[in-house]
Amino acid sequence: MLHVIDHPVIKHKLTLMRSVETGTKDFRENLDEIGGLMTYEITKDFPIREVEINTPMGKTMGAKLDKDIVLVPILRAGLGMVHGIQQLVPTAKVGHVGLYRDEETLEPHFYYAKFPSNIANSMVMIVDPMLATGGSAVAAIDRVKQAGAKDIRLVCLVGVQEGIDAVEKAHPDVHIYLASKDERLNEIGYIVPGLGDAGDRIFGTK
Ligand code: PRP
Ligand code: URA
Repeated sequence: MLHVIDHPVIKHKLTLMRSVETGTKDFRENLDEIGGLMTYEITKDFPIREVEINTPMGKTMGAKLDKDIVLVPILRAGLGMVHGIQQLVPTAKVGHVGLYRDEETLEPHFYYAKFPSNIANSMVMIVDPMLATGGSAVAAIDRVKQAGAKDIRLVCLVGVQEGIDAVEKAHPDVHIYLASKDERLNEIGYIVPGLGDAGDRIFGTK
């Protein structure tokens, strides 16, 4: 279940991020902003419950979000999307999954997981800018499912067909949201045109 969010503002910001001339500060800021803009689209069908409130003019019926949201960034690069989403949904709880990709085999290696106690009844948004082979996303979804999560959405900035296929095969119930479906993976498993190494660009580690 792939959804590519087609929005001019997202396209503009993603183009800034792709540019090799964009430094760490602007890369981070645009990632943050795109995370928020994507969340606005992703939560379009979010359940609401009617509530009665008192306004200065009297009683009226209003609406409240009727489900908790849990954000699960895949460490490290997913951390770069958390703040932007929290600006929109400040009550969201945050879990973490630590995974790194072996540079040779491209296999994901797990090193950490911690989730909030309400994960089973929440809408879980797993966030990571990059969906390349899909190994990390599949492993992260495995972990949140083991913790009881049922309503899971995977939110990435850029992805390729290999990653989409891997997630759809392992977890056909998970909705995948991308800001762009990119052309291909290169011979060392990087997305083309992609963003380069997202973790390094966010944290300035190269
Ligand atoms: C990157 C990225 C994803 C993963 C995608 O993380 O942030 O988690 O690779 O690749 P895949 O779809 O082939 O699994 P990386 O392993 O480089 O770790 P980092 O975020 O700590 O730099
Ligand atoms: N991880 C990244 O950071 N970039 C890619 O292009 C692929 C995986």
